[in-house]
Amino acid sequence: MRKKIVAGNWKMNLLPNEANQLFHEISENTNSNCQVYAFVPGIYLAELASKNQKNVFVGAQNAYYEDFGAFTGEISMKQIKANRAKAVLVGHSERRSVFLESNELLKLKVDAALKEGLDVFFCCGETLDERESNQQEEVILKQLQDSLFHLSEEEMKNVVIAYEPVWAIGTGKTASKEQANEVHQFIRKELTSKYGENCANSVSILYGGSCNPSNAKDLFSQSDIDGGLIGGASLKSKDFLEIQNSF
Ligand code: PGA
Repeated sequence: MRKKIVAGNWKMNLLPNEANQLFHEISENTNSNCQVYAFVPGIYLAELASKNQKNVFVGAQNAYYEDFGAFTGEISMKQIKANRAKAVLVGHSERRSVFLESNELLKLKVDAALKEGLDVFFCCGETLDERESNQQEEVILKQLQDSLFHLSEEEMKNVVIAYEPVWAIGTGKTASKEQANEVHQFIRKELTSKYGENCANSVSILYGGSCNPSNAKDLFSQSDIDGGLIGGASLKSKDFLEIQNSF
């Protein structure tokens, strides 16, 4: 059975008191119809992860693949794990486009995260140009092949895939439920040919990109959409909780 998951990506937002307040409101009010994750800014990770993570798992938005060393400004998978992170985002489009992270680098990050026993939320998705030239499948397949498909079937069990069309992130433009489900089905088909049906049917595939309380129900009712990775709407507890209740 695939897990239903709603994950918030807080990005580089919130001051300490706001982060504490938001985390408190979410963890007090989350019910158990799905698994909930909060990918919080690195500076708040240790404190929030030290709180009760029964209802809301805390994850990092990024981490480096080396364990220790002369990598000024970075924190490692090993360090976030030691600070009780449960998961890490790898390959978010903002990391790819703003920080120029390549598929090869992301592969190293995936391996380092799994070695620490973290859940990997691997993000993939096409840009507007790629969508307009109908290249989305090709682009996504390459992202999966280059950074993820070297994993064993056993390792894939700790991976969640997030399909996030770049043109829908933070733009208020959501992929239609049909558009999103079509890509999710494509990803599952590729998982099936690589890992077999059992494995493909156990990997959760989330949709991300302007998902909000008014479109979540439609998106989550699709056959291959197992939840959402939520940016802007995860910063308001009311919206984030409403999205969780859309299942
Ligand atoms: P958004 O962001 O919901 O604000 O579009 C999603 C994401 O970047 O993960």
